[in-house]
Amino acid sequence: MKMDGKTVLVTGSTDGVGRYVAAKLAAAGARVLIHGRDRERARTLADEIKRQGHSEPIFYQADLSSLAAARQLAETVLAEHKRLDVFISNAGIGSRTLGTERRTSADGHELRFAVNYLSGFLLAHLLFPLLKASAPSRIVNVASLGQHPLDFDDVMLTKGYTGARAYAQSKLAQIMFTVDLARELEGSGVTVNALHPATYMNTTMVREGGITPISTVEQGGDAILHLATGDDVAGKSGLFFNGMQQSQANPQAYDEAARKRLRALSLELTGLSA
Ligand SMILES: NC(=O)c1ccc[n+]([C@@H]2O[C@H](COP(=O)([O-])OP(=O)(O)OC[C@H]3O[C@@H](n4cnc5c(N)ncnc54)[C@H](OP(=O)(O)O)[C@@H]3O)[C@@H](O)[C@H]2O)c1
Repeated sequence: MKMDGKTVLVTGSTDGVGRYVAAKLAAAGARVLIHGRDRERARTLADEIKRQGHSEPIFYQADLSSLAAARQLAETVLAEHKRLDVFISNAGIGSRTLGTERRTSADGHELRFAVNYLSGFLLAHLLFPLLKASAPSRIVNVASLGQHPLDFDDVMLTKGYTGARAYAQSKLAQIMFTVDLARELEGSGVTVNALHPATYMNTTMVREGGITPISTVEQGGDAILHLATGDDVAGKSGLFFNGMQQSQANPQAYDEAARKRLRALSLELTGLSA
C-alpha cells in the first residue's frame, strides 16, 4: 500500500514497538495520528519525525484504562479527520505492569482485559464509519503468542489471578475479536488481522517484567507494518500472524460459541449494545 496521503492511527505509539511503527509510517509519507498517555514522550517522537523531514504527527492523549477516554479519543478522531486508512490497535500493558496484584480499570474491569482488549474493541467499532469511508482500509490488532482461554464464568479473574493469565486472556480476546469482526466486515472493504509481532522485544513492557529481551523492536515493528501496508495481505481478513507468517491461534479463537459470548459481553461492557 502506498502511504502518501493515507491517514493512520497507532495507539500506544509514545513508546516501544508502536513508536517505531509510527516513525516508519511517517517516513513513508502517511499522516500519522500518534497516541499514548505521556505528552512529553509524544513530543520527542514528533520532534524526531520532523527532524527527519516528515510531516508532524498529531498527538492524541487518552488513558485507555477508561472506556470514556477511549470513546472521547474516537470522537475526536472522527471529528478531526475525513479519512482513516489504517487503525493499529497496539497500546498495551504487560503481565507485570503496575505490579503482580490484580487491578481494575476506571470502569471496574480487570485492568489487562480493559486496556489490552476492551478499549481496542470499542475504538474499532466507533472508528468503523471512517475506516469504511476510506476503504480499502485495515485494522491491525497487536496481540501475542501468549494466549489463555477465557473462562466465561470469571472473565474478570476475581479468583486465581495471575498477571500472566490476565495478559494472555486479553491477547486471545483480541484474536477472537479479530476473527469475529472479519466476518462482520465482509464486503465492507475493511479488513482486520491480528499478530504476535515478535517474542520479548526490547521494550518497556518486557524490561519491567524482568525479562531479558530476545528480539528487536525492528523485528516486531516490521511484522506490524507488513499487516498494515503489505500488498500480499490486501483483502485478507480474520487471520492471525506469528511475525511475518500466517499462523494458528489458541483453539478458542476458532470456537464460534466462545466468540459469540465474548462479543455479547464486550458489547454490554462497552455500552455498544445499547
Ligand atoms: N514486547 C514484546 O515482546 C511483545 C510481544 C508480543 C506482543 N506485544 C504487544 O505489543 C504491543 C506494544 O507493546 P510494547 O512492547 O511496545 O510495550 P511498551 O513499550 O510498554 O509500550 C506500550 C505503549 O502502550 C501505551 N499504553 C500503555 N498503557 C496505556 C493506557 N492505559 N492508555 C493508553 N496507552 C497506554 C504506552 O503509552 P505511555 O507512553 O503512555 O506509557 C506505550 O505507548 C502491546 O499490545 C503488547 O502486548 C509485545
